[in-house]
Amino acid sequence: MKWRNFSIIAHIDHGKSTLADRFLELTGTIEPRQMQAQVLDSMDLERERGITIKMTPVRMVYRDYVLNLIDTPGHLDFAYEVSRSLKAVEGALLLVDATRGVQAQTLSVLAAARAQGLRIIPVINKIDLNSARPQLVKTELVKLLNCRPEDIFEISAKTGQGVAGLLAALVEKIPPPTAEYISTNGARALVFDFDYSNHRGLIVYVRIFDGAIRPDDKLVFAVSGELFTCLEVGYLAPTRQPQDILSAGEIGYIITGIKKLNRAKVGETILKVNRPLPLIPGYTEPKPMVWASLYPASQNDFNLLRQALARLNLSDAALSFEEEAVGILGRGFRAGFLGLLHLEIVTERLRREHGLKLVVTAPSISFCLTDRRTGQSEIIYAYHLFPDELRERTVTEPYALTEILTPPEYLSPILVLLQEHEAKVLATENWSENRIILKSEMPLRELMRHFFDVLKSVSAGFASLSYQLIDWRPAPVVKLEILIAEEVVPALTRVVPRRRLELEAEALVEKLKELLPRELFVVKIQARTGGRIIAARSISALKKDVTGYLYGGDITRKRKLWAKQAKGKKRLQARARVNISPEVFLKLAQ
Ligand code: GTP
Repeated sequence: MKWRNFSIIAHIDHGKSTLADRFLELTGTIEPRQMQAQVLDSMDLERERGITIKMTPVRMVYRDYVLNLIDTPGHLDFAYEVSRSLKAVEGALLLVDATRGVQAQTLSVLAAARAQGLRIIPVINKIDLNSARPQLVKTELVKLLNCRPEDIFEISAKTGQGVAGLLAALVEKIPPPTAEYISTNGARALVFDFDYSNHRGLIVYVRIFDGAIRPDDKLVFAVSGELFTCLEVGYLAPTRQPQDILSAGEIGYIITGIKKLNRAKVGETILKVNRPLPLIPGYTEPKPMVWASLYPASQNDFNLLRQALARLNLSDAALSFEEEAVGILGRGFRAGFLGLLHLEIVTERLRREHGLKLVVTAPSISFCLTDRRTGQSEIIYAYHLFPDELRERTVTEPYALTEILTPPEYLSPILVLLQEHEAKVLATENWSENRIILKSEMPLRELMRHFFDVLKSVSAGFASLSYQLIDWRPAPVVKLEILIAEEVVPALTRVVPRRRLELEAEALVEKLKELLPRELFVVKIQARTGGRIIAARSISALKKDVTGYLYGGDITRKRKLWAKQAKGKKRLQARARVNISPEVFLKLAQ
């Protein structure tokens, strides 16, 4: 048998999972009657949202070839995972929707694939659609890849048109895997994904680069140093098929039996304990970029939330969390995510798979504070811990290099948008006959301020964006605190750009005025920065008619009752506490 390992590079919705389904059918890996649309997107959430988050490697047999397909996520949050899965293969299909053309994010994944020397096969999908413009897309691809028009495949993953031809060409064009250390008895495997089973512990998905791994082998995760005995090896087709051996060039799974937290990371190298080989280069620790606080709606569920986060962490090492208690919301967790989509996936899974009702605060980024005298720095990722005054410290924040691909007619609203988000435009170039590429730099903080959504709407969905973090730069930001009934609410603290300080303060107090319920006393809502109140609203007290039961007009009785009421109100006001419901936080985060 001959081996071929490949991946599919595609933008969200360009048809990657549909094409994988056709391959599974054509190779008889799955009987058509068993076919459940999009088999590789295994999580319910993914199927519902129509986005691939986790890659499931699958093995197919085609003529005398064994094909390993790794499904890769098309979302920017998971760029590092994509780079590791590309490392595991020798070739990639570049799948482009014939109605939409190449998208910005695809360009960055493609660059990663080329950097790893992968063989790229360009494929135009959805040619069955009336709105398909295969010729236009072809011109773009020819320029992008410097290839010939006849090297580009045109298919419909939906109807199956052209898919058989693509499969036949794929085995010819993609080179076979090779091993680097052939003569040793050692083994080297790259972890590109993992999963967790309650019963068998951590299951890692690997590409074997050298040697072979068998059950009972004594193995080690080379970076973390964690030792384990291999319980089982095998591959997915698409269910687990246990084998006696996984050899160099193969892609499959290893059951480790490890039941401890945080023991596997994407990019780890697995080696034989007694026969060490060099690490597979490219490992990096997952770096959370976006933070949010998660609180159980009812404090009784605090332990449940802790267990659920720990459970998710077993199969998602990029998630990080630590306990936090910020007053009104009680005890909860400050959690770090790779990006906004990652945040959304985790909170949705906590809700669905663990039945938890959650309060999630508005997502934030981290800032770095550096002491000018000592040079010591500290990363702040919970805004209430940001100092009121900087004194001898400087603040820096992460910056992103962005690339936007757009038809020229949307250029001017996009330029306005970029300006509103503190972006510096570096270059505007013609990318193809009918598209422009715009390169700019902007603070990550601004990218997170609904930039994606607004970009979509100003370009009628035609502009696409990719970004990568480049460095940390001075941040013109200040801390904005919110006081309710004269008490600071740490969970509402924000760190905002100075130029938007007044605007944000006004908007926040106004929104809180709308959202908070009236009390029996006057509720003051104030926005404070550097000890100064810069915006305020108050919610008037609920009126209770204390004299309503009196007949006639005995004014002295009424006066007495009013005076008593006023006294009571004063007392109330003095020990006023406002109960902020989780819904208020939810609405503010929207
Ligand atoms: P992610 O999982 O988000 O990365 O998306 P994907 O690239 O896997 O796309 P998917 O296969 O889920 O397809 C997206 C949508 O396009 C689905 O509604 C498919 O039915 C549809 N689709 C895929 N291929 C074709 C095609 O060749 N023709 C037509 N008409 N529709 C297609």
